Amino acid sequence: MNMSRDYIEKQYRYMKNGSSVEDYMLKFHMNSNELYGLLELCRIYGKNIDIVNQNGTLIFEKPLIRNLDPKKPSLNPKDLIHTEICVVSDTHFGNIHQQLHLLNRIYREAYNRGIKTVLHVGDVVDGNYLNRPEQPRQQFLHGFDEQVGYVVDMYPKVRGITTKYILGSHDETHYKNGQATVNTWLSRCRKDMVFLGQDCAGIDINGIKLFMDHPGGGSAQSLSYKPQKRIEILESQYKPKILLIGHYHKSYYFVYRNVHSILVPSFCDKTQFQQKQGLSNVVGAYFLDIYSNNKGNIEYFCPEEIVFKPNDMWEEAGKDQNKVKKLVIR
Ligand SMILES: [Fe+2]
Ligand SMILES: [Fe+2]
Repeated sequence: MNMSRDYIEKQYRYMKNGSSVEDYMLKFHMNSNELYGLLELCRIYGKNIDIVNQNGTLIFEKPLIRNLDPKKPSLNPKDLIHTEICVVSDTHFGNIHQQLHLLNRIYREAYNRGIKTVLHVGDVVDGNYLNRPEQPRQQFLHGFDEQVGYVVDMYPKVRGITTKYILGSHDETHYKNGQATVNTWLSRCRKDMVFLGQDCAGIDINGIKLFMDHPGGGSAQSLSYKPQKRIEILESQYKPKILLIGHYHKSYYFVYRNVHSILVPSFCDKTQFQQKQGLSNVVGAYFLDIYSNNKGNIEYFCPEEIVFKPNDMWEEAGKDQNKVKKLVIR
């Protein structure tokens, strides 16, 4: 068994409070001796966990210690609704710099954590800009059929996970060029992918209001400037608790006007266009761990940022499209 601290912390996260011990052992191919060894290591690292008998089923029990607001000492985590979401964006399928193998890693991690919803904040495909004649050279898939067919065939398909997505500026080029919509074919061919809107959409998860936004235009010098402007134009009745912004290929979290706002990174390494424009590019994703009350107000919010390093990337052009296998977990 791997004894590193990272491994122990990961497995501790996968042992969900109240979940079945048997299901966990089946999922991770673990026998009871290995499990008891693991629980002992968790305790050595200060992560308390017990196994208790609940109506004849063995379940994990963890102490629920959370950074709840100290001004509200009456808050009890057991009265709150726990929500975990994974957020991805800007996969740009068809671009030679796409990083599908890293998206697969994120989906496998989401599966291991028992996450049911992955949100995708737009630019699913790389599109075709008629005013960028250099673009086809940066693509291994050209045109609507090739790019959308690739998403249908290759987008991770994981038991229990639904991907809810909006479409962004690159996806929309297909509509501008010939009124072809990516969502029409994804809805017909992938029941695990749910279309929410072009450019933006509001969504309610466990009573929490989220807003997904894929703006147009270039980046600002300050990471928070454009998201702040987006929040300022929202009427108060539409103001979400969480704002997720794609398009910029950056990673940033801040709270503004009581909205938890996240710039969601991409799954495409730096392109020739970004290089020319002097734009930086971040590849990664977010896992959100949220506790909310029955009115949809957030009492605890922990955004876990995953940023991939240059050596995680399959830098060599062509490697991802040739070597990556579709992730399917049945
Ligand atoms: Fe993008
Ligand atoms: Fe975009």
